[in-house]
Amino acid sequence: MVSTKSVIATKSGLQYLPKSMDDHIDSSPNQELLPLTAKVNSLDHLELGGLDVPALVEKFGSPLYILDEYTLRTASRQYRDALKKYYPGESLVLYASKAWSCLAVCAICGSEGLGIDVVSGGELYTAIRAGINPTKIYFHGNNKSTAELIFAMAMGCVIVVDNWLELKTLVALQTEKTEELQNPTKIMVRFTPGIECHTHEYIRTGHLDSKFGFDQNQLNDVFTFINQQQVLSFVGIHAHIGSQIFEVQPHQDLADVMVDAMSTAMAHNLSIQEINLGGGLGIRYTETDDPPSIENWVEMVSKAMVNACQARQLPLPKLLCEPGRSIVGPACVTAYTIGSKKQIPEIRTYISVDGGMSDNPRPITYQSIYGVVVANRLSQPTTETVTIAGKHCESGDILIKNAMLPETQAGDCLVVMATGAYNYSMASNYNRLPRPAAVLVGNQEVNIILQRETYQDLLRKDILPERIEISKN
Ligand SMILES: Cc1ncc(COP(=O)(O)O)c(C=O)c1O
Repeated sequence: MVSTKSVIATKSGLQYLPKSMDDHIDSSPNQELLPLTAKVNSLDHLELGGLDVPALVEKFGSPLYILDEYTLRTASRQYRDALKKYYPGESLVLYASKAWSCLAVCAICGSEGLGIDVVSGGELYTAIRAGINPTKIYFHGNNKSTAELIFAMAMGCVIVVDNWLELKTLVALQTEKTEELQNPTKIMVRFTPGIECHTHEYIRTGHLDSKFGFDQNQLNDVFTFINQQQVLSFVGIHAHIGSQIFEVQPHQDLADVMVDAMSTAMAHNLSIQEINLGGGLGIRYTETDDPPSIENWVEMVSKAMVNACQARQLPLPKLLCEPGRSIVGPACVTAYTIGSKKQIPEIRTYISVDGGMSDNPRPITYQSIYGVVVANRLSQPTTETVTIAGKHCESGDILIKNAMLPETQAGDCLVVMATGAYNYSMASNYNRLPRPAAVLVGNQEVNIILQRETYQDLLRKDILPERIEISKN
């Protein structure tokens, strides 16, 4: 019998290296804790994209977001290729750029053939500047401003209409500004499908009590209204039920609800060319997380759509989905430098790092749990249970509670895994911390994709009115 002691002693950062290392077949990135190129090198250091992680930190400083290009491309391709394999109609994957909107991430997804889902003028501007074809940009949001709508319409994006005010504003704009906006604007209608899924309350969106979209029982009126408008081009319907979902069933149920809504639209002489089932596939943040693979999710959802259409003898629409977290989340880690340590006997040991809730607000916002490795001691057995604290002036600024680490010392390089989604995009300057840099690694090359902010950047928008004297005391 193996003793508990020896089992504990064999645990180390090595256990998180991707499975694909052994069989040279890419696993589904969302089922891995570390990016697909993660390796241990002869220094016992973590390597990503063929580069030594502690050396990257030495060169670019910390905290440092390290984005693995191979993993990002692999996730994008797995969605795209699985849809081609399992869905007999046309399909398009949209990267939900709210997960991480920046030029490099949008451009890489675009180069893999993905479109982009945006929810603000800023995300739209980023996607356009990243070279995304505007006809493959879908604009969401429950309170788009008129200026944002005009921007999206002028570019020729598809607008995912969320409510009556927006629908009527679009008609008015299209009628008033015919010269600026030549073509009828393409619209989809977002509605709440009434599907519950087991995820955090803040990231559940498909249940009836949600701020997003029309109620299902408003659809008849919405379709009647749209049918009377010559200036809008109705292309389809959209729903998104939530995020970090580990079951496939809610999306299979969603396919049924969407095809029912398609019948309703057809009864109003509206043809549905596209159905968008949203995003939401979960990823592995900790050892116990067990999401379905990207391929499996796409297969099940595609089959559900085909069955739902066949059962109602309806033609197959173009099938869209818009994953964010499962595309970019597993492709990135955040590297920190370990600083102070505080031991409270019989209670807890705190280890502090040089970032925290400003570069990763998810633990304090959603009580999210992350996994961690020490990048310069990858194979050393984990022997200490510690709580990893950020450097912010906030007791709740805890990145990870009860993490198992090898014995560490100040200066060690701590890596929090799977931080690509909703980290940089939700980052702040709380306590006036400059936002960290992000680097892209691949094939032993590294490029800065987001520069580290400086103190000057922090003051860029500050204005000291002349009448306020600077105290000379
Ligand atoms: C409308 C919409 N689409 C797509 C997504 C992406 O979801 P995920 O990152 O879970 O794939 C979200 C996220 O909340 C969303 O609100």
